[in-house]
Amino acid sequence: MKSKPNIILGISYGHGDSSAALIIGDKLVAAAEEERFNRIKHYALFPDQAIRYCLSHAKISPEQVEVVAVAKKPWNQIHRKIALALKHPNLIKQAKTSDVKISLTKELKKLNLSGSKVVRVEHHLAHLYSCRYLDPKSDTAFLSFDGLGDFVSGSIGKSNGHRIEILEWLVFPHSVGFFYTAITQYLGFPHFGDEFKVMGLSSFGTPRYLAEMRNLIRKGEQFGVKLNLEAFPILNKPLSYNIENAQPKILPFYNLNYMTQLLGIQPRKPKDAILQCHKDLAKSAQVCFEEIGNHLLNQLHSRVPTQSVAIAGGCAHNSVWVGQIVKNTPFKKVLVAPASHDAGISVGAAIAVADREISPEGNHWGLLGPSFDENQLSIPELNELEEKSFDSEKSLISWATDELKQGKILGLFSGRMEFGPRALGNRSILADPRHPDMKDKLNARVKHRESFRPFAASVLEEYQADWFQDVFYSPTMEAVFQVKNEKHAEIPAVVHADNSCRIQSVSKATQPFYWELIDSFRKKTGVPMLINTSFNDCEPIVCTPQDAVRCFLNSEMDHLIIGTKAFSKKAATMKMVG
Ligand SMILES: [Fe+2]
Repeated sequence: MKSKPNIILGISYGHGDSSAALIIGDKLVAAAEEERFNRIKHYALFPDQAIRYCLSHAKISPEQVEVVAVAKKPWNQIHRKIALALKHPNLIKQAKTSDVKISLTKELKKLNLSGSKVVRVEHHLAHLYSCRYLDPKSDTAFLSFDGLGDFVSGSIGKSNGHRIEILEWLVFPHSVGFFYTAITQYLGFPHFGDEFKVMGLSSFGTPRYLAEMRNLIRKGEQFGVKLNLEAFPILNKPLSYNIENAQPKILPFYNLNYMTQLLGIQPRKPKDAILQCHKDLAKSAQVCFEEIGNHLLNQLHSRVPTQSVAIAGGCAHNSVWVGQIVKNTPFKKVLVAPASHDAGISVGAAIAVADREISPEGNHWGLLGPSFDENQLSIPELNELEEKSFDSEKSLISWATDELKQGKILGLFSGRMEFGPRALGNRSILADPRHPDMKDKLNARVKHRESFRPFAASVLEEYQADWFQDVFYSPTMEAVFQVKNEKHAEIPAVVHADNSCRIQSVSKATQPFYWELIDSFRKKTGVPMLINTSFNDCEPIVCTPQDAVRCFLNSEMDHLIIGTKAFSKKAATMKMVG
C-alpha cells in the first residue's frame, strides 16, 4: 500500500483571496491569505509570501514538501463544458476572458518546489474539506455554495470517516452567488467582495421586492436552484471575470432592460445616495437568499439526516442567514469554515490530499497566521509613541479595561494572525459597546467607511445565551443573532437596525488572554463583551507589528497593545492626526 504524504502544502490562486496552508502529520500548522503580506486586498495571483510564511513557520525547506495540493482543476465537468459550448458558442470566449495567465510550473520553480508532486483538487471538493477539520469525528452533512469555481457553484456531501462523500453538484450557469453578486452590483457596490454591504444594508429595509427576487432565482426540484437566464444572460453573453491590478473584477452581468422593468428602479451609481428603495431591495435579496439557503439545507437533510451541518463557499459568509439555521432547518449544530470564501480552499485541498483526520495547531480554527516576538520589535515609528510598562499581564489587562470603560479605542495585536476575513482578537480594534455614539465614532474616525455598517461583538462563551436569542458557539464570528429585548439599551453600539448583532464566542480554552481581557471588562461593567472590528483602515487586516503601528498612527485610536506592551501617541503626534 502506498504511504500517505506527511508534508502537504495547499495553495489557492487565480481568483479572489489567494492563500497557502500547510499540513504536517495530522496537524494543520499554518494558513494565511496573500493579501495580508503584500497589502493588496483580495489579491488573486500566486501566493508566494503566504507559501514562504507557511514553510518558515514550520521550519522546513521547500524540498521537504511532498505534495503541493492545488485547489483548481480546470478540466472539471469537461463533458458538460463541451456540451454547453457547442450549444452556446460564446461560452468559448468566456473561457478565454476568465483564463488567468499564471504558470504553476514556473511559480513552483521560483520557490524551489519543483520536486514536489502536484495534486489537483476540484474547487468545491476543496471547499467542503475546508470545514472537515472543524469537527473531524462527527457525523456531518456538508454544503458549499458560491459564485463559481471549476464550473461548479455548489455541492453537498456527507462524512464517511475522515472523508467526504459528494452527493450532488450544482453546476454552471445556475448559482446562488451570481444572484447575490448581481443585486450587489445593481445596488452600486462594484467591488469584489462587496456582498456583505448588501447584507448590512438589508437590516434597514422591508422585503417589498421579494416576488421579483423569486423571479430571478427559484428553488430547484432536486438539489439546487434555477437562475432566470433572461435576467442573467450568461450563456449568451460572456461573463466578464478578469484579474485587474492583481484583484478580481466582475462586470455587471444582468440584463439591464429586464431588471429595470422588473424592479421599476434604475441601478444605483456608487456615489448616489442610498434611498429606502435600495434598502428594501437589499432586504428582499437577503430574504430570498435565506429562503434558498434553507431550501438547500432542507434538501441536504433529507439526504443526510444528521444533527450537524458544516458549510463553506463564499455564500457561507452570509452571517445573517447562518445565525438562523438552527431555528429554520432540522440541523441542530452549525460549523462554518473560518475562511469560507476562496482563501479556505488551500486548506481544503491539503486536507483532501492528506486523507486522514486533521486538527489545527493551537486548537483554534482560525488562528493560523504568523506571530511576532514583541521583544524583537524594531520599528522606527515606535519613537513617535510613548510606551507604558506593566509589571504583569494582569495589570496590563486591568489598565486596558479601565481605558475601554472610559470610551477609549484600543488596537490589539497579539499572537497569531487570523486566517479568514474576521479579526478574532489577535488583530482587532476594541471598544466599549455601552457607548451610544461609539459606532459612529469608529466608522467616521477609525474605519472611514459607510455609516450603515454595523459592528460585531466578542462575547464570553459562558454568557452569550444571557444576551442573544437562539445563540450557538460561533468562534470565528460567522453568525448573527437577535439581541434579547431587555439587553438592547445596555449595548447600543453593537445592536444593528433590526436588533441583531454578529458575535464571536470567546472560549477560555482557546483564547486565554482575550478571554481574560473581556472578563476583566465584565467584572467592571457587568457586560461580558467588547466591540471587535478588524485592525485595518480600508486595507487588508494588519499582519506585522509595523502594519499595526502605521495603521495606529494614521487613525484616531487611543492606545495600541502589542503583546504585553502598550503604546499611546505622544501629544505632538496626536495633534498631527487630529
Ligand atoms: Fe469558491
